[in-house]
Amino acid sequence: MMRSVIKGVGTSLPARVMTNADISKIVDTSHEWIVERTGIHARHIAGEGETTRSLAVAACRKALDDAGMSAADIDLIILATSTPDNTFPATATMVQADLGITRGAAFDLQAVCSGFVYALSTADAMIKAGQAKGVLVIGSETFSRILDWTDRTTCVLFGDGAGAFVLSAEQGKGDNKDRGILGSNLRSDGRYNDKLYVDGGPSTTKTVGYLRMQGREVFKHAVTNLSSVVEDVLIDAKISASEIDWFVPHQANRRILEGVAKKLGIDEAKIVMTLAHHGNTSAASIPLAFDAALKDGRIKRGQLILMEAMGGGFTWGATLARY
Ligand code: UT7
Repeated sequence: MMRSVIKGVGTSLPARVMTNADISKIVDTSHEWIVERTGIHARHIAGEGETTRSLAVAACRKALDDAGMSAADIDLIILATSTPDNTFPATATMVQADLGITRGAAFDLQAVCSGFVYALSTADAMIKAGQAKGVLVIGSETFSRILDWTDRTTCVLFGDGAGAFVLSAEQGKGDNKDRGILGSNLRSDGRYNDKLYVDGGPSTTKTVGYLRMQGREVFKHAVTNLSSVVEDVLIDAKISASEIDWFVPHQANRRILEGVAKKLGIDEAKIVMTLAHHGNTSAASIPLAFDAALKDGRIKRGQLILMEAMGGGFTWGATLARY
């Protein structure tokens, strides 16, 4: 069976760090409230000249270096983002141009915070179908540009950044000892469109709009939805939760991450959490967390990694991979 092997990982964060103390000067909030309710201490905020495109390109270059591969090896780019540089063309094609790639295909994928898991699953399906051999899967976001900086219920939560995986098609045996993506499960339920959305768009207001969220409502669904989708991935792959080496979830809220781990019976010490330093970077949060755990030596080759995310739509999903 063809497997999508994670050959390289790279990330990029804007230079500017905004702490909870900095945000407390803008809106009526406090470091204590933000830490207690979310686990966030600081986030990176894009400055002039830093965009979803530039962050993505920097992450891709590092991922290619890490993989020991060159841009010439890439025949597909999937960029998960809700904050593209322009309404069109796809930011993925801009990344393609910046990397000097003129073959294959490049497109953006929109599943908000679940974008990276959706993109991994799509890339894996295309690799298995023989449509691609070398894939850049990117999550890149500049949510600071769609935040209402007068709304304390949302602006304290998000940050900017990018992360990329290089996936390569390699022949596997077809069992769960193979390296690469072992399974994914994606879900959505559009009845919850109004719980987390942006109040503008090209076809409605002709503006970009600002992020709006009923946080408590999203929270209510998160642990149940995420646990259920992870359970299905584990059953399909014939892996038990105790076999997972590292749990690398989308970083929305410390309480959600711990709740999902507890429900699944995953040891809390196995949760990779970068929320404190990055905030919620939407589609970028999984590769950013993955990279942090690679750099500090936690994630090693051959280990089983569980990734999951939930976001606007609602969309949610999970991917299991042997690194
Ligand atoms: O990544 C996409 C998916 N998104 C998520 O998963 C987010 C899910 N939701 C959450 O993480 C949490 O719901 C939040 C962190 C957004 C909010 O935490 P909460 O414990 O659900 O708080 P709450 O919304 O119930 O608000 C509690 C109180 C309210 O005051 P009252 O009505 O009790 O007087 C809020 O007005 O906290 C107040 N509040 C704040 N206070 C200080 C809301 N935001 C702030 C703030 N600083 N920034």
